[in-house]
Amino acid sequence: MDAGSRAHRTHSPSTPGIPTVADPTESKPMDAFLIRGGKPLAGRVEISGAKNAALPVMAATLLTPAVHTLRNVPVLSDTRTMARVLERLGARVEFRGHTCKIDTSAVDKVEAPYELVRTMRASIYVLAPLLARFGAARVSLPGGCAWGPRPVNLHLESLNTMDAKLEIDHGYIVGKDVKLRGAHYNFDVVSVGATAQLLMAGVLAEGTTVIDNAAIEPDITALADVLVQCGANIDGIGSRRMTIHGVRHLKPIDTTIIPDRIEAATFMAAGAITGGSITLQRCEPLHMAAAIHKLEQSGAEILPGNGEITVSGPRRLTAVNVTTAPFPGFPTDMQAQMMALLSVAEGTSVITDTVYLDRFTHVPELQRLGANVRLEHNVAVIRGVERLQGAPVMATDIRASAALVIAALAAEGETRISRIYHLDRGYEQFDERLRKLGATVERVQD
Ligand code: UD1
Repeated sequence: MDAGSRAHRTHSPSTPGIPTVADPTESKPMDAFLIRGGKPLAGRVEISGAKNAALPVMAATLLTPAVHTLRNVPVLSDTRTMARVLERLGARVEFRGHTCKIDTSAVDKVEAPYELVRTMRASIYVLAPLLARFGAARVSLPGGCAWGPRPVNLHLESLNTMDAKLEIDHGYIVGKDVKLRGAHYNFDVVSVGATAQLLMAGVLAEGTTVIDNAAIEPDITALADVLVQCGANIDGIGSRRMTIHGVRHLKPIDTTIIPDRIEAATFMAAGAITGGSITLQRCEPLHMAAAIHKLEQSGAEILPGNGEITVSGPRRLTAVNVTTAPFPGFPTDMQAQMMALLSVAEGTSVITDTVYLDRFTHVPELQRLGANVRLEHNVAVIRGVERLQGAPVMATDIRASAALVIAALAAEGETRISRIYHLDRGYEQFDERLRKLGATVERVQD
């Protein structure tokens, strides 16, 4: 899979004179998918680099003034947004296919503005690297997201234990004259984002930083591994306690982004719900154990290989209960897609989201397709129906959109999913790749 060999710079108001080449993957706000369901998927699909692993590594390029090379970066609106944030700070970013070169040597600004951060919360990842390199940062608070409030208190509190002295000023997180110092921080709640911030803050800080109850998502261990390759001194990678001994300098980043376990699991669910048989290439089965286990329990046949997984769907899936939890638990980022799958399984399934208690905007849309879901707080009870029926529905966030696509692939008749730009934030050329697997998917203008 290649997004095109032509190099393109992301749109950059701060780099006049550099021609901006139109991004071939840019979705128009009003794109919709028309899906005619009922076809079993078949064939092979290559899994992209992980969005949630690429974003913190892109931010980490700010730690060192140099030219950094990131390969296997998914070309998505979210990675493009991060590129724009970096460009606003003075970096030069160039995508050539899936290789992203980031030159951070001329970075001379410390502000990540609201208009960019509000479109993607992960923009907040630039906070710790800016504090580490410049001793100053001005980063917009992200605000809520499509399904509710998502606080950043743990980012602020944990960085403040390192003497970041962060304050809120008119909607911005502001740090001035900061000299980061090692500290011991114990997370009450496992947070992927706040763990990444503390890691990036700790690597160049004076002294030793200990992170307890750290997130161990593959995206976090991959970030830690990249930092170690650059000369950082980190013990306990992959465990709930990481110890970071600050160093003076880091080398430029030269890395390949790990495969996207959520994209892979989404394709697995699509293969299983259609009763098809597909092989995912360039994926990491070890990162997907919880999703594989639940799909197997629901009756899918799964054969993991070396960097490959083949999934085959049964004639009818069976109900299973799913509770989301931080890694290695079942990912909240697969909760919506699993609900779509279980909406046609035989029997009654119960899905509990313990990570985001209100992440259920897909429920009313799945109900429009005929799913029988009863929601009480963070618990959804799904009585499997024989068949879903195509209908017009609306995408509300990345994973909710993916759930609607999965449901539509199995539904009788045509489903029109509007606001597909949400899907384009996290899935690269999803329509084209599904078509190659035999699905009838068309991208149209609403
Ligand atoms: C990351 C992922 C997102 C995924 C989520 C949980 C990226 C770019 N995004 O988001 O796709 O759904 O992990 O796996 O990697 N919390 C607080 N205060 C904070 C931070 C978090 O209370 O300051 C809470 C959240 O509300 C949530 C829980 O902690 O209940 C976990 O959130 P967190 O792991 O921080 O999610 P993100 O890093 O934002």
